[in-house]
Formats: sequence, C-alpha cells, structure tokens
Amino acid sequence: MNFQTEYREKIMSAEDAVDMVQDNSVIVAGMAASEPPALLKTLGKKARELEGVRVCTCLLMRDYGFMDPSLNGHILNESWFFGPWERKFFGSKMATHLPNNLHEAGIKKAQKDDINIFWGTATPMDERGHFSLSLGVTYEKIMVENADIVILEVNENLPWTLGDTQVHISQIDGIVENTCDLIELPPAQPTAEDRAIGEFIADLVEDGATIQLGIGGIPNAIAECLKEKNELGIHTEMFTDGMVDLFQAGAITGREKTMWPGKMVGTFALGTKKLYDFLDHNPGVEFQQGSITNDPFVIGRNHKMVSINTALQVDLCGQVVSEWLGGRQFSGTGGQADTHRGAQRSPGGKGIIALRSTAKKGLISTIQPQLPAGAQITLGRQETDLVVTEFGVASLKGMSVRERVKRLINIAHPDFRDELHEEAERLEIW
Ligand code: COA
Repeated sequence: MNFQTEYREKIMSAEDAVDMVQDNSVIVAGMAASEPPALLKTLGKKARELEGVRVCTCLLMRDYGFMDPSLNGHILNESWFFGPWERKFFGSKMATHLPNNLHEAGIKKAQKDDINIFWGTATPMDERGHFSLSLGVTYEKIMVENADIVILEVNENLPWTLGDTQVHISQIDGIVENTCDLIELPPAQPTAEDRAIGEFIADLVEDGATIQLGIGGIPNAIAECLKEKNELGIHTEMFTDGMVDLFQAGAITGREKTMWPGKMVGTFALGTKKLYDFLDHNPGVEFQQGSITNDPFVIGRNHKMVSINTALQVDLCGQVVSEWLGGRQFSGTGGQADTHRGAQRSPGGKGIIALRSTAKKGLISTIQPQLPAGAQITLGRQETDLVVTEFGVASLKGMSVRERVKRLINIAHPDFRDELHEEAERLEIW
C-alpha cells in the first residue's frame, strides 16, 4: 500500500484512540517533552468510564486531569521519575513509583508487564513512511516494538532528530494529528553557590573529556563554567540548552571522543526552543535508546568520561540521596547510577555529585551525619567518587570512613561544621 494512503487510514481522533483503552489496560506514555498532550488530556476526561487502568509516565510535565483523587480505582499512575505532578499526587494514592536504573527501565517493563498501549509523539511522516520519535527514545522505541497498540501524536513543531529515532508507518496502529506548542523547561537561573560549584567542577574537567550533565538547577551553572574548555564531548542522557551554549562557544567538538567521535550522544531532550531548533536534522547529534546511552559498559568505553549529577543529601560516609526528600519520593534514580558507574569504568573517568551545602535558605545542611529513617539511597557509599559543594571538592574514592567524615565536613557550610563534628564523634565514625 502507498504510505500516504496507509497514513490517512490510520488517522483518528484522540477520543477514538482513548476509546481503545479497556478496563485494566496498561498504557505507557512518552516521557517529558515527548508526552502526548491530546491523548493524556482526553484520558483525563474519560477516566471515570474506566476501571483499573495503569498509566506509566516519566517526568510528567503537565497535569492532564487523570490523577485527580476522585479517580481512585479508575486510574493509577506508575512513574519512573517524578516530575511536579507525580510528586503532587503521590500521597493521594493516584501515583506510585517504579524504581529503576534508566538503562533497564523500558526493557524490564516490556519483559515483566503486558504493555497494551503505547502513546508517543512524533514528527510528520516522510515520503518513505518514516517518523522521527524526535525528543526522546529513552524507552519509547522499545514500547513501539512491544506494545499491542501503538498510537503516535503527530506534531509539526517537533524537530526531526537523528540516530535511532525512526519508526515506520507499518509499526503504528493509529495517528492523532495535534500540532501544538512543544513542552519547554527553561533553564533555572544559577545562584552564586551554583556558580562556585561550577568553578570547582570546571577544574575537574580536563580538555578532551566527555561529559554527562544531569537534571536540575546546578547543571546549567556548570555548563556556563565550561565554556573556556576545549575539545569536550557529550555522552549524556538528557540534552539541555546549556549544551547548545557550550557547542556555540566552541567548547564541544567531540573530536577526542572514543565512542561516536564528533557526535553529541543522548537519549532525550528537555529545554527550550533554542535546544529543539539545534536538534532539528542535526547530523552532529545522535539519539540512541536509553538502554544504549545509559548502559554503564557503553559509557565506560568513553575515555575521560565525567558524569555530573546533583543530589539532595549526602551523609558523612558518602551515601547519596538524590530522589527522596521529607520522607517521600521526590524524583527518581533516572540515569544517575548508570552514568556514575559508567564514568567509574572509563579510563581517566570521574563521577561527580554536586549539591549546595544548605537548603531552605541556609537553615538545613545538605551534608548530614546520618540519613533520615526510610531515606532511599541513589548511590551507595562504596560507589561515591567526588562530592562538590560551593566550599570545595571531597574526593572519597578509596578513603576510609574517618577520612570521608573529615573531607565532607570540610565542604559543608561553615555554620554546620561544629555540629557535624560533634555528631560524628557521637556516632563513633570520627
Ligand atoms: N533538605 C530539605 N530541602 C531540600 C534539600 C534538603 N537536603 N535539598 C534540596 N531541598 C529543596 C530545595 O530547597 C528546593 O526547594 P524549593 O523548590 O522550595 O526551592 C527543592 O528541594 C528542590 O531542590 P533543588 O536542589 O532545587 O532541586 P533540582 O531541581 O536542582 O533537582 C535533584 C535536584 C537531585 C532532585 C535532581 O537532580 C534529581 O532528581 N536527580 C536524580 C536523578 C539524576 O540525577 N539523574 C541523572 C541524569 S538526568
């Protein structure tokens, strides 16, 4: 059949697509900037007619109405990584967390659960019947290959990204045309502390290194501080606006990369129009599935690989909590453990955890003698390498507990150092 004819035959309304959902269906939706707004919004409207439906999301960017507490029993959200909405509805029994390391998230879900429906987003089709999955292939391509029913929301504004992003009309069961504004996440304005952290990290990143930058406010400041570097490469999970700035400043060439030389490699993008325009038909950018980009064995084949992620709390032994706050799930492990472990395997690699020394306007030290009961740990102390705050760098790899205590107190906020010493004595770790 002619691809255009096939395309036309597969067009449906969002209402028709949501009518395919049955009681107890498992739906997986594309993540973050790849989430399908028309389908999710329509699900929100029809949710009351359904029972026991599970909707798997990751870093949901908008409230589509399907997590309203009055829909308890109709819909349950399962999320690999909490954004503001999953976080908000976690306590209302409408949302639960899917613990995972990003490189295995999609594979495990497809192997262990019956995925009835995948809802993704894509560019318009080309003349050969291909779409680009555009802003993310973290798990989306695995879902296209494994779900019983695949529906794509086609948005003319999505950039055509290159790498392993293409799917063919023959793999798709339905198309919902919905040209709308793209989901954007503007970079947070760096604080003075963020800039100080960025300067310390810039000293740790050598020319020719390949870097990964994680999610959160601090990574934007770090990107600013790397502009004077030379011949950097990118092997990341998330493409950000800061990476575009680094490329435009001439700091990124990728020429010294050992994996995909000359190309910036990642699995999803979340930023502003500046980033999305940069990605469009850009042969210097390679999207690969999360199972590849985040596989620690793949990451570790890059030489001088530096992973740079952020955290919420670190204890005096070096345990890192990045996804748990105030007794609740805050975000997710995402690719933090993957990228950190990959960097540890890399010749000349470094694993950096960056955090401000205090939170809540200076009232709380993020470096704590012990973690609160029930805290979920993202990186065990045996894995932690370099911890950076605005007061310096604590190199923990190969160090005893006693030495770690000393080094971590040295980078804690001065207002809390005496208290941390006293607690370390009381706990007999000093
Ligand atoms: N105690 C109490 N509150 C704390 C805190 C602490 N130890 N640490 C941070 N907070 C508060 C902040 O003050 C802020 O509150 P506000 O929103 O009222 O200002 C809030 O928690 C968020 O902290 P912030 O540091 O601004 O978060 P962020 O948006 O920069 O994200 C992480 C940081 C750690 C949550 C995020 O990087 C993450 O989820 N990481 C895990 C996954 C990961 O690294 N993946 C890697 C590749 S993408």
